[in-house]
Amino acid sequence: MTQTSNSMPVTIITGAAAGIGWATAQLLAAEGHRLSLLDLAGTQARARAEELGPSHIGLACDVASEADVGEAIARTLEQFGRIDVLVNNAGIGDQSAATVDQTTEGFDQVLRIHLRGTFLMCRAVAAHMLARKRGAIVNLSSIAGMAGIPGRNAYSAAKAGIAAMTRSMACEWARGGIRVNAVAPGYTRTALVEELEARYALDTRSIAARTPMGRLARPEEIAAVIAFLASERASYVTGTTIHADGGWLALGAPEDTLAPHGDRST
Ligand SMILES: NC(=O)c1ccc[n+]([C@@H]2O[C@H](COP(=O)([O-])OP(=O)(O)OC[C@H]3O[C@@H](n4cnc5c(N)ncnc54)[C@H](O)[C@@H]3O)[C@@H](O)[C@H]2O)c1
Repeated sequence: MTQTSNSMPVTIITGAAAGIGWATAQLLAAEGHRLSLLDLAGTQARARAEELGPSHIGLACDVASEADVGEAIARTLEQFGRIDVLVNNAGIGDQSAATVDQTTEGFDQVLRIHLRGTFLMCRAVAAHMLARKRGAIVNLSSIAGMAGIPGRNAYSAAKAGIAAMTRSMACEWARGGIRVNAVAPGYTRTALVEELEARYALDTRSIAARTPMGRLARPEEIAAVIAFLASERASYVTGTTIHADGGWLALGAPEDTLAPHGDRST
């Protein structure tokens, strides 16, 4: 059955120019969504939208700026007339420093983008979704919000906060027709991880070794979980955070217990 363009869902993705956001954009575009791609890197967001085709737009937006968020949502509504799905994906890494050396500015900046950004986007989009009594929001948490990573205070606090906000907003808006869920990815090969690796803030070989599945995630694997939560297939799912981490959070034993028990090939 061919969909008319009016029946195709309208989806906002923040931080859509790269990494998980861009993988999600490609997947949702292929599934028939009309996309509003928001990114701090406006030129790149516009180029990404053009790459996907004429049903999509790209906009410059700092998710931590109330004015930018208001403007981007107004432009999206002007273009498409409604918003069905919001993916709050924009994010940055953390300071690579011992806690005693971390700066207050660095701490505030990480919380500003992740927590304030997610709050501002949800608040503005939910006002519109509640009026239509339908919508789905998917937030990006992280394994860092569930388990301790030395030195990554602001990032861990932000990602735990996003999981908590996901639960409270889900309960508040459930009877208003909005589902709110989150994905907590494990380490995923994107610019964010490459940048941490370049600063020697993480070692992907030891991360792969400590992951039960033995490797990092590909951005498309996280995008698939986001797409599920955004879809009608998740119609009875709200307030939850799905761990897409290759088993990272499930492991409660030393790393060297992984191979012998899992490997039955000999
Ligand atoms: N890569 C991982 O291992 C991993 C693991 C767990 C969670 N996450 C989360 O997934 C999300 C995406 O991460 P990624 O690895 O794809 O990152 P990435 O660095 O590859 O891409 C992030 C995008 O967000 C944009 N951005 C940054 N600040 C912004 C702002 N203030 N407003 C709008 N856009 C902004 C960047 O320009 C970039 O295009 C983030 O929330 C991140 O914390 C990533």
